Amino acid sequence: MTMRMDFNNMLKERIGAQGISLESIEKLNHQIAKANKAMVDKRTAGKMAWRDLPYNQKEVVTEIEQYVNEMKNEIDAFVVLGIGGSALGPMAVQQALNHPFYNELPREKRNGFPKLYVLDNVDPERLVYFFQTVDPTRCLYNVISKSGSTSETMSQFMIVQKLLEEKLGKEGAKKRIVCTTDASSGNLITIAKGEGYKYFIIPSAVGGRFSELTPVGLLPAAFCGLDIKGLLEGAAQMDALTKGEGQDDIFKNSPHMFALLHYMGMMTGKNITVVMPYADSLKFISDWFAQLWGESLGKQFDNEGNIVNVGQTPVKALGVTDQHSQVQLYAEGPYDKIVVFVGVDEYRETITIPKTYADMPSLGFLGGVTHNDLIKTEQAATEYALTKAGRMNMTLTLPKVTAQTLGQLLYFFEVATAFAGELLNIDAFDQPGVEEGKNATYAMFGRPGYEEKKAELEAAPAKDSQYII
Ligand code: PA5
Repeated sequence: MTMRMDFNNMLKERIGAQGISLESIEKLNHQIAKANKAMVDKRTAGKMAWRDLPYNQKEVVTEIEQYVNEMKNEIDAFVVLGIGGSALGPMAVQQALNHPFYNELPREKRNGFPKLYVLDNVDPERLVYFFQTVDPTRCLYNVISKSGSTSETMSQFMIVQKLLEEKLGKEGAKKRIVCTTDASSGNLITIAKGEGYKYFIIPSAVGGRFSELTPVGLLPAAFCGLDIKGLLEGAAQMDALTKGEGQDDIFKNSPHMFALLHYMGMMTGKNITVVMPYADSLKFISDWFAQLWGESLGKQFDNEGNIVNVGQTPVKALGVTDQHSQVQLYAEGPYDKIVVFVGVDEYRETITIPKTYADMPSLGFLGGVTHNDLIKTEQAATEYALTKAGRMNMTLTLPKVTAQTLGQLLYFFEVATAFAGELLNIDAFDQPGVEEGKNATYAMFGRPGYEEKKAELEAAPAKDSQYII
């Protein structure tokens, strides 16, 4: 089972003036070849270590599986303490592959696996309410941080650690904390080793938002009974499509083509990409993608240091829900968007609408129809409406949402993002804009080493009260 991409509705012949012509793709052949080469060169030079994750984690997977077996009956819930790339992937995979009401199911219907919570924010209400919801001593806390120093995650960790030590003692607390972090940089690895916590390693050359297929995502998924080998197999299947013969022919390389069409869209003012899955299971894939695409491509400088201020705003939508809120804008608003539908051929369940009001024509037509047909028909109808309105749109389809096809989709988006970075000639793997906010926070708290930043903040003009009304 392989996912597919349909980009008919990106083309001029389907949507008219706003579309892309085959000739304009051809004109970019040189740039495409340059980007292809950069992808190969960077991979060879170990600068895209996330591309090797489908192949080099046999031992990690075994260790994860052993650890899950050892721990799963000891706990009621597995709790992720992480943010950004250390939280969005675990949420997306859980939502995609497990029962949508997983935590509400009785344990036997979860096949004996614990519940999953991802506490990805520092809203003060969150932890307090969380501790009211579970027995905090019956949870295993997975502190995930690539840098090992993210304030939000580390603050959650310190609160949890204190609580556990008060209730269980130091030795008891030790069995309730597992860390996922870099092997050498940051505080978390030092703490994990010093305190004697179990830990898993994120390969140092894999950045946060590209880390879902490391223990960042694999450990939470395995604790919820998901097929982590399948995820990696799926990623390998997508990788196979993007290398060898398929590498250079953009018409056979779907993630490269996705990136190219988005790049060409950006060049004609399509500054927004809307990812709109027609499956609740894929709802949080849009959140995960939003970070990947937004943080990777939104850059001030190109590789030569010129100011370019590029990027494309990722918008999350859900079909059919957002047909009743956003689609009016997509069909008639500014020509500034690409809509990416994400559909599935086969849903995991089927439900049929009863023929209750056969005599009422405006309801009767629904009788005997399945929700499966309804959602798919609405997706096709929205695609038709946007195409008729001359709006760029394309469709990714998973034959079925399984560990393999999800692995394909995650890897597809990662490759597409990296390739878009090459076309834009920017560094898709850094995030200087995020660092600035982080540094300002440290300075405001008076963290040693941030004195200069503190002075800079203090020198900034104060707000004028007449504009606060
Ligand atoms: O992609 C990134 O590097 C970031 O968005 C990180 O995922 C996020 O800031 C969390 O960082 P860390 O995992 O280091 O705590």
